[in-house]
Amino acid sequence: MALDRFGRNISYLRVSLTDKCNLRCVYCMPEDMIFRPNHELMQDDELFLLTRVFADLGFSKFRLTGGEPTIRQNIVGIVRHITHLPGVQDVGMTSNGLLLKELAQPLAEAGMKRINVSIDTLDPVRFRKITRWGNLDDVWAGIEAAERAGMTPIKLNAVVVRGFNDQDVTEFAKLTLKYPWQVRFIEMMPFGEVAAFAKDGIVTEAEIRQRIADEYAPLELQNDGKLDGEARIYKFDGAPGEVGFISSVTQPFCASCNRARLTADGVLRLCLLRDKEVDLLRPLRSGATEADIKQIILDGIWHKPWGHGLSRDIIPLTRVMSQIGG
Ligand code: 5AD
Ligand code: SF4
Repeated sequence: MALDRFGRNISYLRVSLTDKCNLRCVYCMPEDMIFRPNHELMQDDELFLLTRVFADLGFSKFRLTGGEPTIRQNIVGIVRHITHLPGVQDVGMTSNGLLLKELAQPLAEAGMKRINVSIDTLDPVRFRKITRWGNLDDVWAGIEAAERAGMTPIKLNAVVVRGFNDQDVTEFAKLTLKYPWQVRFIEMMPFGEVAAFAKDGIVTEAEIRQRIADEYAPLELQNDGKLDGEARIYKFDGAPGEVGFISSVTQPFCASCNRARLTADGVLRLCLLRDKEVDLLRPLRSGATEADIKQIILDGIWHKPWGHGLSRDIIPLTRVMSQIGG
C-alpha cells in the first residue's frame, strides 16, 4: 500500500502513454508544440515493468492518458497487459475520440471497460477553432463506437473556455436528457506556456450552473454533493444522464486525492498542479532493481504535496497538460 504523510492511500495511477497528440487544443498546448524524441519515452518493456511494480504496490485503478493515448503504437497490447495485472480492478482511458471508431471494439476486447472522451463543443466550427483542426464528426463516430463496444459509463469532458465554447454549455448539458452519459464540465487550469490564457479564460462551475439554469432549467445536486471521483454530480429532473463538474480551481478536492501520475517519459508526478516529480525511467535504465524502483516510488508518494497553490498563484511551470496527461 502506498501511503502519503497525510494518511492518503494512493492507489490510482494515471499513465501518460505519449506526449504527442493529433490535435492542439488551445488550453493544452501551443500550436508549434515540440514533442520529446521517442527514445526519451518509456518503451513497452519499461512501461510493462513499471505498471506491474505499481500494481504490486497496491495500485488498483489505472487510467491511460496522453497527449492522445490512442496514437501510441501497440495501444491494444498495452491495455491488455494492464487489465491483466494482478490486483488491477479498473482500467479506463481519456481520449479525444478521433481514432475510437476503429479502436473501441479491440480496446473493449482487451479489457477496457470505460472511456472518457474530450469534446468541448457540439458546434463543428467552434470545435475546429478550439482544437485548431479537429473534425467533430470523427469524435461523435468514436463515441458511438465506444457505446456499441459496450463501454460504460461513457463520460464526455468539456473544458469551458470563455469566448470559445461558453455559449455551448446548456446544449451540452441537455445531451443528458437523451443519453445515459455523464457530461462533465472542467474548469480550465493554468499550466506553463498556456497559463495566462487559462487564467483569463476560465469559466467557473458557479457561472456554468447559473447559465444552464437561466437558459433551460436548474440542475439538481445528487448524492448530497459527495464526489464521484473528482466530479460533483447533478441531474436534470428525470434525465437518464448526469452532469458533472470538475472544479479543481474554485473547489479543490485535494483532501481526498488518491492519485499519482506516470508521465510518458517515465517520471512519477505527485500532483497534477505541483512540479514535484521523481524520475523512475533513468534509474531503471541505469540498472536499478525492481526493489530499488519500489522504494523510490514509496518515498516519492510519502512526500506527495498536500495540494495545489493556484489560489496563491503557484502555477505549474515545468510541463503543460499534454506532458502530464490530466
Ligand atoms: N485545464 C483543464 N483541463 C485540461 N485538459 C487539457 N488541458 C487542460 C487545462 N489547461 C483536459 C482535456 C482532457 C483531459 C485529459 O484534460 O480536455 O479532457
Ligand atoms: Fe490533444 Fe487532449 Fe491536449 Fe486536446 S487536450 S491537444 S486532444 S492532449
